[in-house]
Amino acid sequence: MKTRLYVHTGTGNSLWVARQLATELKETALEFMPYLSKTFTIQADRVGVIFPVHIWGLPRRVVRFINHMKVKPGTYLFAVAVNAGQPAATLLQLQKLMSKRAMPLSLGRSMAMPSNYIPWGGPGPLDVQQRLYREAREKIKTITGSILRGEHNKVDRGPLWQNILFSLIYKMTFRQVHKMDRKFWVDEKCDGCAICAHVCPAANIRMIDGKPSWLHRCEQCLACLQWCPQEAIQYGKNTIKYPRYHHPEITLDDMLEQAKVKRG
Ligand SMILES: Cc1cc2nc3c(=O)[nH]c(=O)nc-3n(C[C@H](O)[C@H](O)[C@H](O)COP(=O)(O)O)c2cc1C
Ligand code: SF4
Ligand code: SF4
Repeated sequence: MKTRLYVHTGTGNSLWVARQLATELKETALEFMPYLSKTFTIQADRVGVIFPVHIWGLPRRVVRFINHMKVKPGTYLFAVAVNAGQPAATLLQLQKLMSKRAMPLSLGRSMAMPSNYIPWGGPGPLDVQQRLYREAREKIKTITGSILRGEHNKVDRGPLWQNILFSLIYKMTFRQVHKMDRKFWVDEKCDGCAICAHVCPAANIRMIDGKPSWLHRCEQCLACLQWCPQEAIQYGKNTIKYPRYHHPEITLDDMLEQAKVKRG
């Protein structure tokens, strides 16, 4: 296999980007990012990681993956940081993490998509979402060209002030992410279907007396909240007034496949 893509996703945007890339690149295997606890060697000529930006940086699952992955010398490494307009220094963080493990990141591109961070609002009007998907399709073609040519570019980044300020906030919150699930609650619409528990990639939800209970090993991907068919999961006070979001071409079955990935 020439190219291997590893993806992490909460609402399907990153999975959709990864699928488009796999189609364009050809001879490409696409896998959900494993939860690694020991070194894992990847056999491929090119390896790409595709993931959402969380709190202006890398999600915990991605950090863990990079800290355990290994590639053969000469492997071409690239990344796409899928975000809602503020990638900040995420790709610089990734580049640094990879270079510590002697894995030089050749290409790091930011991809703006609708926001799934519902505590701050919905994904925006449908026409804006459609425009973002159109622009993403175009950008994926450009990225594919760069990968096939084996380009080595500066990674995408936000404005300097964001990179400094937001990276600081990222560092301050990173160790708290697992317990941010304390703000989840369910309203009276919950019918006990347990989809939230099945869709959670971190196995962080247990059903107790027919209702979800969060176990404080959360990744903050928001899959549970966004994929609940009854829209019964809330986070803090605001989410009740915003529409739920997931990428229109990604299905619940896709997400359930991700949740089956073994935790090492
Ligand atoms: C906890 C959390 C934090 C987020 N932080 C950022 C951020 O710092 N910058 C940004 O542009 N988008 C941020 N987002 C939005 C997502 O990166 C964006 O919607 C992405 O497309 C979601 O991809 P996914 O569907 O693959 O999960 C955040 C989303 C979540 C759930
Ligand atoms: S997915 Fe929604 S309705 Fe189903 S158990 Fe979870 S919270 Fe309740
Ligand atoms: S509990 Fe919800 S937000 Fe936390 S990791 Fe699981 S699906 Fe994602």
